[in-house]
Parts: sequence; C-alpha cells; structure tokens
Amino acid sequence: MQNTPEAMIVSTGHAVPDKKLTNSDLEKMVNTSDQWIVERTGMRERRIAEAGTLTSDLAAEAAKKALEKANVSPKELDVIILATISGDMQFPATACFVQQKLGAENAAAFDISAACSGFIYALKIANGLISSGDAKNVMVIGAEILSRFTDYTDRNTCILFGDGAGAALLQPSDGTRGLLGTYWKSNGNLTHLLLAPGSGSAHPPSHETVDAGLHYLKMAGREVFKHAVNSMANAALSALEITGLSGADIDLLISHQANDRIIRATAQKAKIQPEKVFVNIEKYGNTSSASIPIAMDEAITSGKLKTGDKCLIVAFGGGLTWGSAIIQF
Ligand code: UT7
Repeated sequence: MQNTPEAMIVSTGHAVPDKKLTNSDLEKMVNTSDQWIVERTGMRERRIAEAGTLTSDLAAEAAKKALEKANVSPKELDVIILATISGDMQFPATACFVQQKLGAENAAAFDISAACSGFIYALKIANGLISSGDAKNVMVIGAEILSRFTDYTDRNTCILFGDGAGAALLQPSDGTRGLLGTYWKSNGNLTHLLLAPGSGSAHPPSHETVDAGLHYLKMAGREVFKHAVNSMANAALSALEITGLSGADIDLLISHQANDRIIRATAQKAKIQPEKVFVNIEKYGNTSSASIPIAMDEAITSGKLKTGDKCLIVAFGGGLTWGSAIIQF
C-alpha cells in the first residue's frame, strides 16, 4: 500500500564551481583517453572548486537558493543536515559553518557521513524529524569538494570526481506531495572497497601518511561496480515494494551519478523506460552526496520533474551504503 506522505520537498537549489576539468585536460595529466572515459563512465567534464572555496560555501549557496525559492527566511530553519565526506575540517561540523553563512540562528546543525548515499540518508532523517513533529523546516544538503581528496596521478579515480552542492527544503506534507517511502542499508564488511584511509584517527595526518597519499580516495573500481549494480537495483525495487508502486508508475528516475552504465542497469532492473531517466553525469562527473540534489534541482528547473510526478531516487556509495526514496512532487 502507498503510504501517506508526512514530509515534502518544497524547494531545491544547487551550486557548482565555474571551473571545468574536461576529459581532454585529464588526457594531459594521466594515461587515459576521452573515448575510454566516455565509454566506461559517460563523463565529459567535472567542476573544480577554486582554492579558497570551501564545501560550506557551496552548501550555503545551494541552501540559500532553496530558501529564496520557497520564500522561507533562514531564521525559520529548525534543522540543517549536511551530508558530506569532504567537509571543511575534521570538526566542528561543516553544517555549523553553513548555519553561520546562512544566518540560520535558530537551527540545530549537524553532518552525516554516508558517502554517495548521504543525501538519501539525510532525507530519511529529515522525514523522521518532521513526521515526529520535532521540526517544521529542515534543510537537507549534499555538498562535496572531492577534488581536494583526489590523487591526480591515479587514473583509476581522478577521472571520476567533481565538486558541487545541492539542497532541498523539507516541510510537513500538504497531504498529497512528499516522501511516499524510503529505504536504506549498509554493509560494513566492505569498508575496504572505497575509502580515504588517512583522514581520521586510524592514521592521523603526518608526513608519512601524506607522503603515502593516505588522505586520497581509494577505490577498487571493478568490485565497487559489481556491488553498485546489485545494490542500486535492490534499493530501487525495495522502494517500489514499500510504496506498492511499479516501475511504470515512476515519472522520473534520479540515480546517483557514478557511472552511466550503473544508472542504465538500475533503470532496466526497475523496469523504468530510458526516457524517464535523468542523467547529467556528462557535465559534473561523480559529486558523491551532491549528485542527486543537483540533478533534482536541474530536473525541476528544466521542467522534467513537475508537480504531481513520482520521482524515484537511488544511491550507492562507500561504507558500503545504499538507499532509495520515492517522492511525489
Ligand atoms: O560513487 C560511489 C560508487 N562508485 C561507483 O559506483 C564506481 C564504480 N566503478 C566504476 O564506475 C568503474 O569500475 C570504473 C569507471 C571506475 C572503471 O571502469 P571498469 O570498466 O570497471 O574498468 P576496470 O577498472 O575494470 O579497468 C579496465 C581497464 C584496466 O586495464 P587492463 O587491466 O584491462 O589492462 C585499467 O587499468 O582499464 C584501465 N583503466 C583505464 N584506462 C584508461 C582504468 N582507468 C583507466 C583510465 N583510462 N582512466
């Protein structure tokens, strides 16, 4: 049975840096080719933050746009949840810097770490806060500056990642629009497949850890790919089952933008037609927790996601983590 929504997305916003890193730029940096990158990933360019731009800057810009669209004052925010794996610093939470930049003085602000699934995890937490009556205005943000944790001598990873932020403002549902169902799952036995080992208390930063490049993202690409295909399909089907919907009921699939082949495989397993799949991976690469809210904002702005539409969002990432949600707009 389809659930009655308790929380809804009232507005979205996104922010990406102007500077582009193209496949032809990468050809000059590592042994790769435009053809290999396009065929294997679907990516053509990514955005890279200038030195001095912080994750909290991109996050605050995306959130500000969402607030303006909804005509909600920053002071009305009850909670700011920021999903990130590339926050400004180890602590305090980057969400607190965002709070300061927005002037959201009445909010509680915190970060969550669920890698590329972070936005969906944050959305699920926000849904719970609104459902329980604890909050009325919750800002959910996915923001990353992954270029600062990318080894630009490693062709296995450096072609993939880009910077950006996306935000969604949640409020209590009007009874029709909102989150119809959510799903999340993790597998801590597979932490070793995708991680930045040198950024915490396991290997506190030292000359040795920096020389060994332990602060950079490491990924066992082919293995992660296999898990991603299975877990994304599992997450998509679970959300459909929870809501009693079928692929044919979905108006738009917005998947985490990690690889065009994974996105297409997920759509196929969920029986969603290719024309109902939103893809912007060619412009931004993999922006981790930011990819879904950036895509959602672009889908709304371009008219691909309209009031009344049912949107399935699905993500997968380090942890391993995965999750999904079906949202009635
Ligand atoms: O966002 C979080 C989740 N992340 C993902 O879901 C990413 C999942 N993984 C992937 O998307 C893919 O595994 C990659 C795009 C990372 C790699 O594609 P692949 O088809 O799995 O390639 P591969 O790693 O199996 O490598 C195939 C070949 C290898 O050469 P040999 O051993 O066959 O001679 C690699 O060394 O391609 C080589 N290769 C490259 N060649 C040119 C690896 N990276 C590159 C490169 N340019 N950048």
